[in-house]
Amino acid sequence: MQRQPLVIANWKMNGDRNLVTNMAKALRESAAEFAAVQVVVCPPAVLLGHWQEAAFYDQIYLGAQDVNEHSSGAHTGEHSCTLLAEAGASFVLLGHSERRQFYGDSEARIGAKVRQVVAQEGMTAVLCVGESAAQRQQQETFAVVSAQLAAALSELTECEQLVVAYEPIWAIGTGETASPEQAQEVHAFIRQWLTEKFGPAGSLVRILYGGSVKAENAEALFAQADIDGGLIGGASLEAEQFVSICTAAQ
Ligand code: G3P
Repeated sequence: MQRQPLVIANWKMNGDRNLVTNMAKALRESAAEFAAVQVVVCPPAVLLGHWQEAAFYDQIYLGAQDVNEHSSGAHTGEHSCTLLAEAGASFVLLGHSERRQFYGDSEARIGAKVRQVVAQEGMTAVLCVGESAAQRQQQETFAVVSAQLAAALSELTECEQLVVAYEPIWAIGTGETASPEQAQEVHAFIRQWLTEKFGPAGSLVRILYGGSVKAENAEALFAQADIDGGLIGGASLEAEQFVSICTAAQ
């Protein structure tokens, strides 16, 4: 069985109803160019409803940028997995470095969120992992990534609802991209880790690269054996760029 290419847009705290309309139109018009690619857009959660009206569902999927680890209750300002599913999301980003750094997402909390997502039928967890510049300099990349994988996935026994995104922190929003070789080396390591944990099913988990992916560098990154697509930040806010990236994954 082959891994279907996957491109996910992470709008972070950007975008508005206009961008939803324009992006949906651009993707619809170019859909034939990336027909084999699964495309997911993760707008801010309040825009999910607008996407549902504007988009076409056979090819574009929706995702959320985070979820609460509880299923309901007194958690002011938070969203449960069920609420996100009701709003149209079938993917959830988890453990993004911005959430780890600035919003208190500990390893334990990320693990609990992963379990919430995989318990929800039809939902896929996109677990983000990656090292800082200092950790890479000290040659700690593999140790950091495997510790993040172990902490988040230790209690999981199946991986059908899992995607892993390798996002080196030094490449996020900096314009500095990991070279295709640097990224492939870590992706191969993650693939091996997943296969050791989950058996043959682990080799089918899609592993995305994220960190300053643009139309110009996408093709070389996606050509690597263990890079199954991308998690795109800044370039997912520009329709032309994002369409080119989706096409590069075809
Ligand atoms: O989740 C996507 C991400 O953090 C990469 O952002 O702007 O470097 O593509 P960017």
